[in-house]
Amino acid sequence: MSSPDIPQKAPYAVEVEAGKKYWWCACGKSKTQPFCDGSHKGTPFAPVEYTAEKSEKVWFCGCKHSASKPLCDGSHKQC
Ligand code: FES
Repeated sequence: MSSPDIPQKAPYAVEVEAGKKYWWCACGKSKTQPFCDGSHKGTPFAPVEYTAEKSEKVWFCGCKHSASKPLCDGSHKQC
């Protein structure tokens, strides 16, 4: 199984808007982290959809190894 790239070993803090959909980059290759820009084409990865339940700051995984994708679970400490 291939591993995703690791754009940063820390989460990305993002102010999300209630009801809005976001596509989190799972491959690690996007230039618009933490979101997908289509760079996963040709890799085994696909973006993960996230719908904001409320307007708030959330922490998207930056190392791409979180067990609770697309959000950070602290896994970057082991990367
Ligand atoms: S660019 Fe990484 S999942 Fe789309």
